[in-house]
This record gives sequence, C-alpha cells and structure tokens, in this order.
Amino acid sequence: MNKPKFYITTPIYYPSGNMHIGHTYTTVAADSMTRFKKMCGYDTYFLTGTDEHGQKIERKAEEAGVTPKQYVDKIVAETKELWKLMNIEYDDFIRTTDERHEKVVQKIFRKFYEQGDIYKSEYEGYYCTPCESFWTPTQLKEKDGVKICPDCGRPVELTKEESYFFRMSKYQDWLIDYIETHPDFIQPPSRANEMLNNFLRPGLQDLCVSRTSFKWGVPVDFDPKHVVYVWIDALSNYITALGYLSENDSLFQKYWPADVHLVGKEIVRFHTIYWPIMLHALGLPLPKQVFGHGWLLFGGDKMSKSKGNVEYPGPIVKRYGTDALRYYLMREMPFGSDGNYTNEAMLNRMNSDLCNDLGNLVSRTVAMIEKYFGGAVPEAGELRDEDRHIIDLFEALPGAVEKYMNELQFSLALSEIWKFVGELNRYIDITQPWVLGKSEEGLPRLKTVMYTLAEGVRAVAVHIYPVMPSTPERIYAQLGVTDESLKTWESVRKFGGLKPGTVVKKGEALFPRVDVQKELKAIFDEKEAAKPAPVAEQAKEAKAEAKADNGMVTVDEFFKTKLVAAKIVACEKVEGSDKLLKSTLDIGEDKPRTVLSGIAKWYSPEDMVGRTVILVKNLPPRKMKGIFSEGMLLCADDNNGNVKLLTVDGDIKPGSEVG
Ligand code: MSP
Repeated sequence: MNKPKFYITTPIYYPSGNMHIGHTYTTVAADSMTRFKKMCGYDTYFLTGTDEHGQKIERKAEEAGVTPKQYVDKIVAETKELWKLMNIEYDDFIRTTDERHEKVVQKIFRKFYEQGDIYKSEYEGYYCTPCESFWTPTQLKEKDGVKICPDCGRPVELTKEESYFFRMSKYQDWLIDYIETHPDFIQPPSRANEMLNNFLRPGLQDLCVSRTSFKWGVPVDFDPKHVVYVWIDALSNYITALGYLSENDSLFQKYWPADVHLVGKEIVRFHTIYWPIMLHALGLPLPKQVFGHGWLLFGGDKMSKSKGNVEYPGPIVKRYGTDALRYYLMREMPFGSDGNYTNEAMLNRMNSDLCNDLGNLVSRTVAMIEKYFGGAVPEAGELRDEDRHIIDLFEALPGAVEKYMNELQFSLALSEIWKFVGELNRYIDITQPWVLGKSEEGLPRLKTVMYTLAEGVRAVAVHIYPVMPSTPERIYAQLGVTDESLKTWESVRKFGGLKPGTVVKKGEALFPRVDVQKELKAIFDEKEAAKPAPVAEQAKEAKAEAKADNGMVTVDEFFKTKLVAAKIVACEKVEGSDKLLKSTLDIGEDKPRTVLSGIAKWYSPEDMVGRTVILVKNLPPRKMKGIFSEGMLLCADDNNGNVKLLTVDGDIKPGSEVG
C-alpha cells in the first residue's frame, strides 16, 4: 500500500555565525513533526540546510581573513554536529554552494529571463545586509537620524547598480486571490492578513533579483558580472534539493509540493510573496502551508548573534541532555507566539514536569511492581470507576495529541500528554497502593491498579517520542517493554497492550532534580570562562570592523556611535568577579543606566563615584554575571597594563552629546 507522503522543511540558515537556540527551535519543531508523522504511517522527507551566499557572509569572511567558502565550511560542519547533538534526523542537508543547487538556480533564473519575467534595469535604493533585503524609502524607519531596516532595526545602505528585476507586479492579483481562497496556506491566519494588508494590497514593486557590487553568489550564466539575489537563490533550495530540473527528479516528483515550510515570522514575507510567485512562474504547485512561528526572546529582544543576546544549546544539553531542552522548547510557548527564553524557566520546567511529574511516575510505578509483585506486571482484575476513568483518558489521548500536532501546536500536544501524566499521579494518590499492599484483601485491587499504571506509563512513553526521542527507550527499559509493536502509535489507541508478566527493572532517575540557582551559576561561570574579557572583546570586534574598511570610517559612520557624558552616581563590585565594576550612570534620562566595566583592577568603586565619564550609549545590552550591561565606558589602554577612564574636563550636564 502507498503511504501518504509528508515533506517538511526548515529555513536554510545563514552560516554567518554558529547556530543558537533560536535556530535550534525551528529545527527541533521540524524534527518532532517528522517523527510524529512517521509514527502515524507517513512517508516523510525532512529537509534542512544552509544559505551560504550573499554580502553578509562575504563580509564576515573578509573580517575573519578567510575565503567565504572556508568560512562557511567550518560553520556548516559545526551546524551538522549540533543537529546530531540535538538528535535531528533530517533526510537531506542542502548547501546553496552545492553544485546540484547552483546549476539549477542558474536554470531557473534563465527560464524566468527567457519567458519575460525578468528584465534588466538599474536599481537605486536601500539595502539591509543583515536581512539581505531591499527597501523603498517609504518602507524605512529612522532612528537618531539614521535610516534603519523596518525588520531588524539596523542601518541600511544606499545602493545603486545595474540589476535584473522580476516582474512581481504582474502576479500580484493572482497572489491576493490565491491567499484569499486558500485560508490554510499562511498560518497562523494573522500573518496572512499582515501580508495582504502591508505588502500585497498596497501594490507589489518589481524585485531586484541580481547584484553586481559583490561576487559571493551564483553567477547569472548569461551575464556573469551579476550574481543571483540571495533570496531567489535560497528559496529555490526547497526544490533543487529534490532534484528539480536535474537528471534524477524522482524525489521532486514524489514529494513536491511541500506539506509545510516552517519559518520564523520575520521571513514569512519572502515565503508567501516571492516564493509563491516564483513557483507560479515556473508552473509549479505551491507548498500547502507556510507556518510563521514566533521568536525566542532573550531579555525581551529577539535572540540574535549580532545583538549579543544569545544562548547556545551545547552547555545545556551537556548538563541535562537533549530531551530536556527539546521538551522545554516545544512546551514553553505556543508555536506562533513569541516567548522569553531563560535558563531559569528551562530548569524550573525540568524540575516540575520532567523530574517530578514524569520521572516520579515512572520510578514509583516500577518500584511498586518490584515491591509487591516481585517485578512482574500483574494482570488487571475487575474495573472500578477510577480505573475506567484512566482507560478512557488513555484511549482519548492519541486523538487529542494528533489533532494538536497536525496543527503544529506542540505545546498543546505536550500539555495533553502531561495532563494524562498528572491523572496517573492522581490515580496513585486516590488508590493508595501502599495501603492495598498491606493486606491480602487489597491484593486483587492492587493488581488492577499496578497494571493500569504500567500500561499508562507505556502510553506516555509512546506519546512523548516525537519531541523527546531518547527518553522512551529509557522508560521501556525500566518497564520491560521489548516488543517493538508496543512502541507504536497504533498500539496506544486501545488500552491493554502490555502483557501481564512483563518484568520491570528499576533504573536511574530519568531526570535528576537540580538546584536551580546553583545550576544557573554553574552555567554562567562556564560561559564566562569561555569568553575573552569583555572590554578587550568589544575593542577587538571594533578593530576588526574598522579593518574591513582599511581603518577609515566616514563621518556618518563615526556618528552612528552615540557617545554621551555620564555621571557615575553609584558603583559597586560585581559578585563573583574580580574584574568587573557595576556603575549606575545618570545620563539625563528618567532611568539611570547600568554599565559593567572590566576595570576593577585599576579603580575602586569609591574612585568611580562622582566622575563624569564617556558612555557608548547605543551598544546592544549584554549580560554578564547575570546583569545586563547597557553600554560601555571609554578607557585609554597603553597595552602595558595601564588603563585610564576618559573623563570630562569640568562640569557638564549628564547626557550631553560627545563628538
Ligand atoms: N537564510 C535565511 C532563510 C532562507 S530560507 C529560504 C535566514 N536565515 S537565518 O539564519 O537568519 O535564520 C532564520 C531562521 O532561524 C528564522 O526564520 C527562524 O526559523 C530561526 N530563528 C533564528 N533566530 C530565532 C529566534 N530568536 N527565535 C526563533 N527562531 C529563530 O533568514
């Protein structure tokens, strides 16, 4: 019998830096969904990869003093390691530098040109390099007199160059109609309205689809001084990976159209405007769904490497295991909404849901079967209401979980499973096996209770597999389940699969209980130890940036740095650090600023108070020793061990601009 197919993708990530918890979030979601669909009998295909071309990567490589390919190769290798660590089972990892991809991108571009969708002209406008995105003057925002990208808030660059353009405008009415008549295409629905109201109905501009001002991209084969615009190149990955327009296109024939593209909300626009138009122009069907999920925030802001507010999965996984992090990511916030990521919340959830609720249920069940029945699961006898209640919940669980998983509502699916875990724990409290175990008369009842619990634990193990793929085997080992047919989705539709007589064996606690404050400190110390001293690091970054431009900056560039006079009103040592001082600064605003500086070796807190110093005001906040530092104090450093603060010559109002 032909299995139904399911093709799912993640965005292909920019290997401009190492992948963090934000990228991990999408990838874990795609992996969980794939595992779930596989369990439900689907023939699945899961694609992920890296988006390696573009100006951003070219510049990063230049800063690092290596070729773009050398730069991305290293990060791609580390990304693959990370996905292994996170237990991600993708079917293919596409790199946009793969020959199989580049060749087909050239064919696609040529096809657009030959059929008149692409024409040559001149582009003059603004470009956001971090987002690799073009903007019209009316779409831009402004901050402190600088034109910034409306998506990421970073400064844009004015560019003028010969370019090819795609006639997006030609397809505008078709796309509006398509979105309106396919309500499932863009999810959640609020994102569809945003696309219609903010981009499509006001009128689509033709899109600039080639660049000449840099080289790192797929050359246009009939006009090689142009490289293909990185988004045209990147979006094509979803079909080039399947062999579209190549010798063997059997995967493409089998799996296209995709069932769902998972993307972060900031790139829904590319996936629901440019991509459908590209596909339509190629005469191909559209993906069934584009799901725009929310962001993991850190300190209230989108986690992002360039803002310096990131967490990486490595240290967490090393301490608590992959499944604990996967569970937290999928459980904490509804897929589609933003939510804060904190290690503290992750540890609290691990303690409550994984250690207390799940871990204790498993260990109590196994321990009681060992204590009362020598380790062999007893046979259930007559059923009472409380047993029937559990059996009803058991048999309703697969349907409820399926419904939420099919809607990509991972947190709700997990919440259903944990409600069942809670009911099983409550069942122990109500039936009181320890009382039943005291007398002969209690024995028949105890058998029913212990069987029901063991069978309930089996159902939990089956259901958590998509999100927590390595925990079920640890539960099966304790429960004595070796028969593969008892680990399937089908096997939990009906209560009673577990064979009486199965021999259980107590094992290690599934998730150890941790002291949250102690762990937070340990994670923090580990991270600090791996970091260069803060002042030195910031100076190094600044120097690297300056070097990329031969050491010269324009006046405009210089004034992007906001320097102000700041009065130190309080200062103290930072606990647990012999380098850092925490200063409270009056900068003439309602709220004083807190700044950490690595100068405790040269200044005591008392020396600091009362001085008027120079603050770099517009650096992204950065967390050190658990405290957010909101800027940097300027110092002079003779590289000979002497560091002096820059101060102001006389009295001046706090907040006065320096420059
Ligand atoms: N290369 C493009 C995508 C091309 S797809 C044809 C890109 N890459 S990216 O490296 O910036 O990764 C973006 C994706 O990573 C987001 O869309 C999202 O899926 C994930 N995330 C990155 N940071 C994230 C958070 N802080 N929170 C949640 N997801 C985040 O855009």
